[in-house]
Amino acid sequence: MQNIESICVVGAGNMGHQISLCAAIAGFKVKCCDINEEILHRAGDFAENYLSERVAKGKLSEEAAQRTRANLSFTLSLEEAARNADLVIEAVLENLAIKREVFARLEKICPAHTIFATNSSYIVSSRLADATKRPGQVCNMHFFNPVLVMKLVEVVKGPHTTEETATAVMEVAKKMGKIPVLLQKEIYGFLVNRILTAIRSEALYLYDLGVASFEDIDRAVVHGLGHPMGPFQLLDLTGIDLSYHVHMERYRESGDPSHKPSPVIVEKYVKGEWGRKTGKGFYDYSANG
Ligand code: 3HC
Repeated sequence: MQNIESICVVGAGNMGHQISLCAAIAGFKVKCCDINEEILHRAGDFAENYLSERVAKGKLSEEAAQRTRANLSFTLSLEEAARNADLVIEAVLENLAIKREVFARLEKICPAHTIFATNSSYIVSSRLADATKRPGQVCNMHFFNPVLVMKLVEVVKGPHTTEETATAVMEVAKKMGKIPVLLQKEIYGFLVNRILTAIRSEALYLYDLGVASFEDIDRAVVHGLGHPMGPFQLLDLTGIDLSYHVHMERYRESGDPSHKPSPVIVEKYVKGEWGRKTGKGFYDYSANG
């Protein structure tokens, strides 16, 4: 089986920065790139604060923190990040055209053995594999937010994905301390997001109908179902912008109006109230909030 030592993470946003850090802690050499310098700086600051806090909490040794720092670097250049990678994990915006462009660029940059995995929340890798000349080495590797905490990784085999690729990616996930599950068939949204979407759609429907406040719907799910967070708290964590893009992408493809984002998601997206990342979503995360 292919020995994976170096990983390139494309995108340092909500998911990419924690995927990079998690892989670096696990001992992989990680280069994380983004086209946005500010996002890269934020990812670097997060990693530094996180490692110092883990050491202070006694959850990581100073040596392990130093090793992680040495394993992790950030760059604006995709060429620099990807040219020696054994595995690329793409974590860019949830937009098919952008992802295809990234995969086509990676095809030109990476060595022949490199595996390309997408962290897409919904898009199956067969929509991306033909942007490369190595479809056998393309699959989904889907992490959950916050990546440093959530154990699950969904590895999805497309009809094009070889057994070796799926096995190698499962092994990387295990080495990262994750619990991977293997989907033998592609399906939009995989396992978890299909279940989550059903809960979320119902919560948004109840809210849009005025049946209860979002706070009470969250309380109902936390205290009635035992979930760690309610659907609106979770939307703020994963990003209202992500939810907007996922629904718009689906609507653009299907033309089915039922796939459009709910009115409150559109309103919050337009206002720039995208959740924790902007300081306000359904809840207020400012100092006074
Ligand atoms: N980043 C990194 N670590 C975090 C974190 C974050 N954003 N938030 C919390 N943590 C860590 C803390 O450091 C702490 O670590 P420690 O116990 O080792 O010291 C631990 O998590 C617990 O933190 P807290 O006590 O502050 O908070 P909670 O116990 O309330 O846990 C939570 C926070 C882990 C976010 C929990 O509320 C939870 O599990 N929520 C549900 C998350 C979820 O459902 N995620 C899946 C979303 S769907 C998805 O990602 C799909 C994608 O496609 C969009």
